[in-house]
Amino acid sequence: MAKNGAMAGDSLQPSPFEEPPGAVAPSLEALKRSCQECRRCGLAAGRQQVVISRGDPKARLMVIGEGPGAQEDATGLPFVGRAGQLLDQMLASVGLDSEQDAYICNVVKCRPPDNRKPTAQEMAACAPWLSAQMAAVNPAVVLLAGATALEGVLGIKGGISRLRGQWHPWQGRWVMPVFHPSYLLRNPSRQAGSPKWLTWQDLLEVRRRLDQDPPPTPTL
Ligand code: URA
Repeated sequence: MAKNGAMAGDSLQPSPFEEPPGAVAPSLEALKRSCQECRRCGLAAGRQQVVISRGDPKARLMVIGEGPGAQEDATGLPFVGRAGQLLDQMLASVGLDSEQDAYICNVVKCRPPDNRKPTAQEMAACAPWLSAQMAAVNPAVVLLAGATALEGVLGIKGGISRLRGQWHPWQGRWVMPVFHPSYLLRNPSRQAGSPKWLTWQDLLEVRRRLDQDPPPTPTL
């Protein structure tokens, strides 16, 4: 049974990311070409590469993280450093292959200096790219990895510890926030009740949803 979304007390911000109703899916190749030329914010000046996606654009699961780190900036692929390896392992633990069963991307496509959190302006500048990816991939289930993805997509600031593991029916998709893998690297305990254990429960629930449920009825 789907649980409810945001609760009283959450800081609800206007989401910088609005998927236009009935958005026409652009070709991902065209999107990639334009995105690689993007200079919509100051992050463009410091990047080596624009980091757009990895995985399968036909997957029913989209994973959205915060933004590229050093290894992602160097390779042009999201989640390929230590956090990415943990993400792959955790998806594999529920029988999901990160290349075949997921499309993986970030709220911002260029590396913020010193791995700082992207600003609200940078997230807003990058939102059209994420919106276009969402329209093209059309995932049934969206996993928001960490507080920045929760803020960048649903516009909810704070509350990842409380909102993780809860389904948010959103624009005809099931969205679930989970802890960011970097946080799990800093909290490696697997004991019952630990962040890693909780994330495993969340991913089991994601797996169940992918196996069983049709998308929610869109409420626009
Ligand atoms: N962390 C993220 O949020 N995204 C990446 O691509 C890598 C690390």
